[in-house]
Amino acid sequence: MAIRDDFPILKREVNGFPLIYLDNAATTQKPQIVLDAMNEYYTSSNANVHRAVHTLAGEATEGYETCRQQLKNWFNAERVVMTSGTTEAINLVAHSWGRANLSAGDVIVLTEMEHHSDIVPWQMLAEERKIELRYIPVLEDFTLDMDIYAASLEGAKLVCVVHTSNVLGVRNPLEDIIQMAHANDTLVLVDAAQGVPHERIDFQECGADFMAFSAHKMCGPTGIGALLIDSEVFETMQPFMGGGDMIETVTVDGSTYQTDEHKFEAGTPRIAEAVGWSAALDWMSKLDLKKEHQRLIKIARWVAEQLRTMGMSVYGRHEELDSAVVSFLHPTIHSEDLAHLFDSRGFAVRTGHHCAQPLLNRLGIASTVRASFYLYNTIEEAQLFIEQLKEITERFG
Ligand SMILES: Cc1ncc(COP(=O)(O)O)c(C=O)c1O
Repeated sequence: MAIRDDFPILKREVNGFPLIYLDNAATTQKPQIVLDAMNEYYTSSNANVHRAVHTLAGEATEGYETCRQQLKNWFNAERVVMTSGTTEAINLVAHSWGRANLSAGDVIVLTEMEHHSDIVPWQMLAEERKIELRYIPVLEDFTLDMDIYAASLEGAKLVCVVHTSNVLGVRNPLEDIIQMAHANDTLVLVDAAQGVPHERIDFQECGADFMAFSAHKMCGPTGIGALLIDSEVFETMQPFMGGGDMIETVTVDGSTYQTDEHKFEAGTPRIAEAVGWSAALDWMSKLDLKKEHQRLIKIARWVAEQLRTMGMSVYGRHEELDSAVVSFLHPTIHSEDLAHLFDSRGFAVRTGHHCAQPLLNRLGIASTVRASFYLYNTIEEAQLFIEQLKEITERFG
């Protein structure tokens, strides 16, 4: 299969077995083109960006800014701030927009299926500013309670919602969520960390005010991500981190700041990572992502059906737009033990609370085993996964 051939890591063995990597919701593997681009950057163009006229600095700047432009094109976004990832992007909104716009008694609406990175920054701000946080419950069918959502919007300044749950794979009805929020003059932040890997999102069309995501979940390097900001909202925002590169002038009496995205990018940015992300976007742009997603959700649905047949509790619904994430619990084998048993057979699956403790509390469980599928995974790997689970159950269950 051509896609697999681009990923050198998939040729390795783990504990004497061929690696079957099913931990893609945590991070995805990198195609050779990404590794080559980063290596080539450090080998022949390494320099700091923006601050010098020499050739290498020009190449580094071009590499970095090319990534921004590619992201603008990919997401149809006018303002793309480079961050260290989804987490930093959300924290940026909390510090810059949140501190300027929220005060005691204001309301932020969150959901129970948020990742901790879209909960904790708001809790910190809430404590500091005496803001009220309202959580939209998750229903039995793993969807958000939209009636409670509608009622929660009263007086809300911001809605923070995950595009696709990293535990359930459920893709939220963002279009409705955004439209209802805007009808109430409420801004919307979308945590798209799990959305961007499987769906080509048009930022302006979707209408969100902020969208945060990480490169490493879409075949790019770790340590880099982005925050898309609606251009009108962008103009109102002030930097939250001071330092080099984000200023226009500095005197001992004070400083003025850049007016474009650089106002949020103090210090030396992630240049090699931006170059690697560009290569990942180039690589992904050659794929039919929609078709690949249909293939993957079919695999996930098949796995979920098999698991149910075997008596596992499966958390998620695996509908067409959901991501190919299958979270489950074995009736008799503890999640951690199961993950170890899988590892001893070459399978990488994740276990734990997946940084979504409020969701797991709502589900009444402490952990799940999570198998998540991405572009290079095959139905054969899914079949081997189920076969192994049967064998493990027979021996240890
Ligand atoms: C839904 C969701 N949001 C946020 C994050 C945090 O991403 P990062 O650690 O790259 O900042 C993750 C990572 O697993 C995630 O799945």
